Amino acid sequence: MKYNGILVVDFGGQYNQLIARRIRENNVYCEIIHYTQCLEQMKTKKPLGVILTDGPSSVYWDNAPMLDEEVFDLGIPVLAIGYGAQMMAHVLGGKVSKSEKGENGRVKLIAGSSKSGLTVHTSQLFEGIAAESMCWMSHYDFIDQLPDDFVETSHTANCPVASMENPDQRLFGLQFHPEVHHTPFGQKLLKNFIFKVCQCETDWKMADFTQEKIDEIRELVGDRKVMCGLSGGVDSSVSAEMVHKAVGDNLICIFVDHGMMRKGEGDRVMDLYSRKMNLIVKRVDASKRFLSKLKGVTDPEEKRKIIGVEFMHVFAEEAKKLSDEGCEIAFLAQGTTYPDVVESGIGPAAMVKTHHNLVRLPEDMPMELLEPLRMLFKDEVRAVGEQLGLDQELIWRQPFPGPGLAIRCLGEVTEDKLRILRDSDVILREEMEKAGLNKSVWQYFTVLPDIKSVGLMGGERTYEHVVGIRAVNSVDGMTSDWARIPYDVLDMISRRIVNEVAGVNRIIYDITSKPPSTIEWE
Ligand code: XMP
Repeated sequence: MKYNGILVVDFGGQYNQLIARRIRENNVYCEIIHYTQCLEQMKTKKPLGVILTDGPSSVYWDNAPMLDEEVFDLGIPVLAIGYGAQMMAHVLGGKVSKSEKGENGRVKLIAGSSKSGLTVHTSQLFEGIAAESMCWMSHYDFIDQLPDDFVETSHTANCPVASMENPDQRLFGLQFHPEVHHTPFGQKLLKNFIFKVCQCETDWKMADFTQEKIDEIRELVGDRKVMCGLSGGVDSSVSAEMVHKAVGDNLICIFVDHGMMRKGEGDRVMDLYSRKMNLIVKRVDASKRFLSKLKGVTDPEEKRKIIGVEFMHVFAEEAKKLSDEGCEIAFLAQGTTYPDVVESGIGPAAMVKTHHNLVRLPEDMPMELLEPLRMLFKDEVRAVGEQLGLDQELIWRQPFPGPGLAIRCLGEVTEDKLRILRDSDVILREEMEKAGLNKSVWQYFTVLPDIKSVGLMGGERTYEHVVGIRAVNSVDGMTSDWARIPYDVLDMISRRIVNEVAGVNRIIYDITSKPPSTIEWE
């Protein structure tokens, strides 16, 4: 670690990497470490500041992750968030209590405190931030009593200590999440911490990351061969381009068509690769085997796991074929990004869903994994894509999940349900394009909730499928808000799907944000 950076201490929260990228966005170097390494690394690396992150624990649990009190005596500024703040309060003699109701989502924050007599302007962390603003909360436990020498600097209707600080020792605690976009002043607050409190300098760039990774891959791979699974999405394309820059034609790409792509997608993706990227790409049609493995399977996690495992089998078979031809594959490159890692429950964070490329390699597959984007978010991946000179069409494609339509088709995946999804999705895309919304809405698609409802068409009773429309705005896929598509556009989409897609008689619109929902339905 460069000594002028920030240490982010991981307690297993969903947004820890998000904090790291917020720091990097300000061109300040940062590293994430496990909480057990905190004290030792603070002593050896002497960072300019430390951020303790949120986590799923409660300070009252047996074996709850705790830091030694000494961490707070080293003279290094500490910003503690969520569980991190509760743990800091607990260790320093404050009291944490449990509330029945909890606070989740957007909440009004009142900065400055009548109790402590402190105003917004006296807190360095809140400099330039309005006295009343919205913040993002996600907690049940809360700080009930402050440790000695701490003052409360903000509160909400249900949370007496939304933030606290000991300005002399430069220790700060926040119950809310400054790192998510739903806390509009969050970036300002983090900037106050890294620049005003910690006095960091802006000497780190994304370009450094890209070049460092390419050099790292080149050194690791040497003159061995790499196989890369391409899906047509930005993550795998950027990952392939990065490996290509590092090892040239020692990279062999495989595009697996699992039969659950959108209409015409396989051809379009192959065309993009041949026209826009100089890669060797082999297309493997594996649709029959994927669909037969999914027969009768309804559980979302089981579906995801089957698809992940089947991908690995296809890669293993392709590697074996190449090896029989004298081309030994030593590495498998994947476009795994940070949300895939964190939501799959790798490490201490809670599992949400198994992302398809997080399935481990089988033991008889003697390849090492290369995941150059593992620490990045979607928009950072796009920034790397720009630096690599990747085509705009590939960089700005809407995210499409590796398991494809299988996770938009609730219940068993059947050819007929896939047909409904494909046909309705085309209509949605056409209408969004016509309305000029295709560039401004981050991701949109149709889902089939596997329920039927009664309707009336042509004077006859019908009992047909319900199709859902999901359209969201997001920056990185970690959180999202539902897109406010104008009613007349929704109306046209609804009419067209019901009239043009056989087997559908009702359309619903998903108006939930993430959290509490996720973007995909499975
Ligand atoms: P969720 O549903 O987790 O989705 O809120 C966040 C973003 O990730 C995409 N997604 C995936 N992408 N493999 C992928 O490559 C997966 O298994 C996967 N699951 C979800 C989703 O489309 C959204 O953009």
